Amino acid sequence: MASQVLVAANRGPLSYELGDDGTLTARRGGGGLVSGLSAALARQPEALWICAALSDADREAVRRGVSETGVRMLDIDPTTYDGAYNGIANSVLWFTHHHLYDIPREPVFDARFRQQWDAYAAYNHAFAVALAEEAGEGAAVLVQDYHLALVPGELRELRPDLRISHFTHTPWASPEFLGMLPDDIRAQLLWGMLGADVVGFHTWAWAEAFVAGAHIDDASGSAGPAGDRRRGVRHRKAGADARSTEVAVYPLGVDEDELRALAHRPEVNDKLAALRTEVGDRKAIVRVDRTELSKNIIRGLLAYRELLTAHPEWRGRVVHLASAYPSRQDLEVYRSYTQAVRELAERINEEFGTRDWQPVLVSVKDDFARSLAAYRLADVALVNPVRDGMNLVAKEIPVVSDAGCALVLSTGAGAYGELREDALTVNPYDVTATAEALHAALSMPAGERLERTKRLAAAATALPPTAWFTAQLDALREA
Ligand code: G6P
Repeated sequence: MASQVLVAANRGPLSYELGDDGTLTARRGGGGLVSGLSAALARQPEALWICAALSDADREAVRRGVSETGVRMLDIDPTTYDGAYNGIANSVLWFTHHHLYDIPREPVFDARFRQQWDAYAAYNHAFAVALAEEAGEGAAVLVQDYHLALVPGELRELRPDLRISHFTHTPWASPEFLGMLPDDIRAQLLWGMLGADVVGFHTWAWAEAFVAGAHIDDASGSAGPAGDRRRGVRHRKAGADARSTEVAVYPLGVDEDELRALAHRPEVNDKLAALRTEVGDRKAIVRVDRTELSKNIIRGLLAYRELLTAHPEWRGRVVHLASAYPSRQDLEVYRSYTQAVRELAERINEEFGTRDWQPVLVSVKDDFARSLAAYRLADVALVNPVRDGMNLVAKEIPVVSDAGCALVLSTGAGAYGELREDALTVNPYDVTATAEALHAALSMPAGERLERTKRLAAAATALPPTAWFTAQLDALREA
């Protein structure tokens, strides 16, 4: 049956596990995009989510015809998938949008890159074809993220009747970084996105970067006042009529009731009790991230070390709980980053630890229940990405905190736009300033901390996933 609301994202709401006896079990998929969209789509029972098969078990499920209602997985051949996901999406586009290149050595756009780009185009093509097959007349199609930048343009050619949006969950590169991409590739990327009726971002910082970058390739941004939720970009591709694309901002927030309920499950209560025993009457500085270069975990640890050096009164009186769960471990740069995080934490423990005090406790497991327990316990939350689309951890902690939590937040997080007034804000590269902000956060009077936490929680819940999704659907229907 043709669908009227379709979502396309690399990751689906579930993935499969293959048991030793050959049975397939569906598990909930991970990541901020998946949790936000799953919550929103729970209220859209007729919607279809198209995603990629991510593992051998997923591919096996597709081959056996095993599926869940509302989900279609695409079985993309593993070499194409690897070039698209590891090669272009995670090694090129992720690094471009997060400004992560090690400039003397990277990036290098050579013949291998061109092969990977072809894989990326093939992978995007598979999504465009599947969407064109499944969408009903005039349906709304909401394409997600940098993995699928070429889909809107291609889908518009296949199905001019559809209403198409693209939402970027990451930052958007500044024109300087975007300008590093080969000209033809950058043009394909921008024209792909401009195939959408609406292009959405979490914050104006990224939307403005997109509009500025769109000038490079003969598409002009006509900017309205900065406070506007939407602006237009008019563009004309050679041989085609002029069209316009709306650039809009939808800052994803947290569903307060749902998150609080999750954070008070018996499993989380048990983990909280265990953490309380470990931390004792010390203060807890908490961080929770994928082990991801953009999250800036190393500079966070260096700042903690500087705190213990510059303010020795905190020695023995504070514990740093860092959950850094593994991500994209197929890529060497992620594996070595994970290793560097572990090693630095060990060095800090060797340098400052005593018989009854371990300064840093690192957990490298993906354990959401433990993270929620740490959220509730935190006296201080450290969220210091160099550049981050939104960062939902900064929004989740104030919402579930038991006794109020001071937030140290970097200017690089998308959440900075909404949370800066009640957070202690830092330049993510400035380790000394981060150490001083940690000191100020640890020293904050309990009353002030609680008041700030309440205001942070109010800002964090302003646009929960369902409203975030509905607003985009409405904009698309009006477009
Ligand atoms: C970011 C991206 C998402 C992605 C998630 C996890 O939040 O915006 O699209 O799903 O990271 O990354 P992964 O590569 O594991 O899907």
